[in-house]
Amino acid sequence: MSSFAHPPDEMTLRQAADSAGIRVGVAVQAGPLRNDATYADLVAAEFQSVTTENALKMEVLRPSRASFDFSDADAIVDFAQGRGLAVRGHVLLWHRQVPGWLEAGDFSREELLAILREHIQTVVGRYRGRIAAWDVVNEALLEDGSYRPTLFYNVIGAEYIDLAFQWAHEADPDALLFYNDYGAEEQNAKSDAVYALLTRLRQRGIPVHGVGMQMHLNATQPLNLYSVAANVGRLEALGLRVEITELDVSVGASPDAAQLAAQNSVYFNLGALCRALRGCAGLTVWGVSDAGSWINTPQSPDAPLLFDVAYERKAAYFALRDGLRGG
Ligand code: XIL
Repeated sequence: MSSFAHPPDEMTLRQAADSAGIRVGVAVQAGPLRNDATYADLVAAEFQSVTTENALKMEVLRPSRASFDFSDADAIVDFAQGRGLAVRGHVLLWHRQVPGWLEAGDFSREELLAILREHIQTVVGRYRGRIAAWDVVNEALLEDGSYRPTLFYNVIGAEYIDLAFQWAHEADPDALLFYNDYGAEEQNAKSDAVYALLTRLRQRGIPVHGVGMQMHLNATQPLNLYSVAANVGRLEALGLRVEITELDVSVGASPDAAQLAAQNSVYFNLGALCRALRGCAGLTVWGVSDAGSWINTPQSPDAPLLFDVAYERKAAYFALRDGLRGG
């Protein structure tokens, strides 16, 4: 397998991000990191941080209540350490990709609290000092701003959010702890609820340091950047950092030139926005090449990322790089 060769006289994404004072990252999977040198070299050449796309999800980590399987997560964290990359740990509590034994266990409040506490402390503790930031709670709110009725919420109540952050902080006091969600980028009912939730958490002294904005976007529905900027500003005023955590920009199966241009604009604008906003500390794309993107499926082909299936840089790559450079 050939290794990734970046033209030596050209700026990389990570150099562009450095010039902006922000961190650019990518979601990775353990399989290609182990088996595909081009993938691994590309990640190390272009990005400053990696996010575990699936390896730290409960479904992967917890085949049974009594056991943990850290093999994929260890592979990613070891790779990152070896190449000098930071790691964003995704994700401690999310209502999806939950193991069957937990969903079907009919646990009492006390039992569920004990299980979640053990889970969070074991996982965060294992990577103490090696995972710089964690998505502690993911997608806890609905579009109308109410709490999502997940297993965690239904059995424990909203207090599960406070406890998750406290347990994670106890296990690694230096890790940055994030609340992560989608559809709360612009000022709207959901982002108002995120803001209110984070305000309450901060008032109660809960150790929460940032908000992740997923940004699974569509080229034809760009965000209102003024609204995003205002939203980032109010979160920053709470003392929080904001990161774009899961960026991809869908263009559908056979994009025409206008759709591709629209995709490029989204990447450019978000790079430039993150550079311009003091509150925006990082930007992570949700996958390396289009081949591995979660939204590119046989039923619904797509090309939402920065590199094509041959790991060639796409126009979207140059657009994001230009945005990060402030060009
Ligand atoms: C996705 C992964 O990319 C897929 O491989 C997996 O099958 C499903 O989850 N929001 C999140 C991420 O927070 O964890 C999701 O990742 C995408 C949506």
